[in-house]
Amino acid sequence: MNMNRWKSAGSLTVFLITMALLLTGCGGVLDPKGPVAREQLQLINLSFIIMIVVLIIVFGLFFYVLVRFRKRKGQTGVPEQVEGNHKLEIIWTVIPFLLLIVIAVPTVLYTFKFATDYTKDKNAIHVKVTGHQFWWEFEYIDKDLGLITANELIIPVGKKIALELTSADTLHSFWVPQLGGKMDTNPGLINKMYLEADVAAIYQGKCAELCGASHALMNFKVIAKSEADFAAWASRMKAEAVIPEEAKAGEAIFTAKCLSCHAVSSEDRGAYPNLDGYAYRTRVAGVHPNDPDAVNLREWLSNTDHVKPGNNMGNQGLTDDEINELIKYLHELK
Ligand code: CUA
Repeated sequence: MNMNRWKSAGSLTVFLITMALLLTGCGGVLDPKGPVAREQLQLINLSFIIMIVVLIIVFGLFFYVLVRFRKRKGQTGVPEQVEGNHKLEIIWTVIPFLLLIVIAVPTVLYTFKFATDYTKDKNAIHVKVTGHQFWWEFEYIDKDLGLITANELIIPVGKKIALELTSADTLHSFWVPQLGGKMDTNPGLINKMYLEADVAAIYQGKCAELCGASHALMNFKVIAKSEADFAAWASRMKAEAVIPEEAKAGEAIFTAKCLSCHAVSSEDRGAYPNLDGYAYRTRVAGVHPNDPDAVNLREWLSNTDHVKPGNNMGNQGLTDDEINELIKYLHELK
C-alpha cells in the first residue's frame, strides 16, 4: 500500500466508527441509565470482546503464515501440500462451537427475561404506546392514573414501566437508547416490553423505523421523575385546567378549530396529540423546544408542514391574531 492508500483507509475507518456511533444513538446505547439497557449492553460487550479476541488471533495467525511461508528467492515448484490434519480440524471446530455456546446461553436467557410481561404487575406502571405519523401517544392503563398524553412519556424512577406497543397507521419503532433496545410497533398487533430508569432525567426517544416524510422528526422524550414528582404530575394532569380571562378568546378559537382533533383533557383520546398539560411540554410537536416566547409554537401553528413535512395537520390557515390567542390559551393548559 502506498501513502495515499493508507490515508484513505484511515479516513474510511474514522468514517465507519463515526457512523457506528451515530447509528447507536450518538453513544446513548453505550451510556445505559436503566437495568434493561445495562443488561443489553453487557450482552453486546460479551459478543464484542469474544469477536475482538477471535479477530486478533485469526489475523495474527494469518499474517504469521503469510510472512513465515512466503515464497523465498530461488524457491521453485509447489511447496509441500498439507491437508486432513484431524487434530487441527477438531481444534478449529470445537473452539468456535464453545464460543457460540458462551454467547448463546446468556443471549437466550436475557431474551426471555426482556420479554417478561409486567402488565399485570401491581407495582409496574402500565402504558399503551401507539405510534402515529409522526407522533407518539401514551395512555396510562392503570385505573388510578387513566391519563393520555403525547410525545412525552412521564415515568417514576426505579419502577418497571410495562409497555404495550402498537401502531395506528404504518410501522414505527419505539427506541429510547439509554433505557433499552428498540421495539417495532405494528398495526393490529401488540408488542410488549418493559423499561426502567435509574435516575430522574430526560431521555431521548426516536422512531427507529422509516415511516414516512417526517420519520426523522418523530422524536419523543421519556421524562423520569421521582415518585413524589410523578404523583404530583399525575394529579396536576387530572385536575381541570383553570383558564384565566385573558386566554378565553384563545379557548374559543381552540374549541371551534382544534378541539375536534386535539383533546385537552387527559381522559379524552382525540384523533391527534392530546394537549393536556401542554404548558409543561418540553417540545413543540416533539421537535423544537417549547420556549417561553413561543417562537417555535408560532412557527408550528403558522405552517406545520414547514416543521414536520407530511404531517396530517397541514396548514390550517390561522391568522396571526388567532395564533396569538391560541398561544396564550395553550400556555394555560397546566
Ligand atoms: Cu415513525 Cu419512523
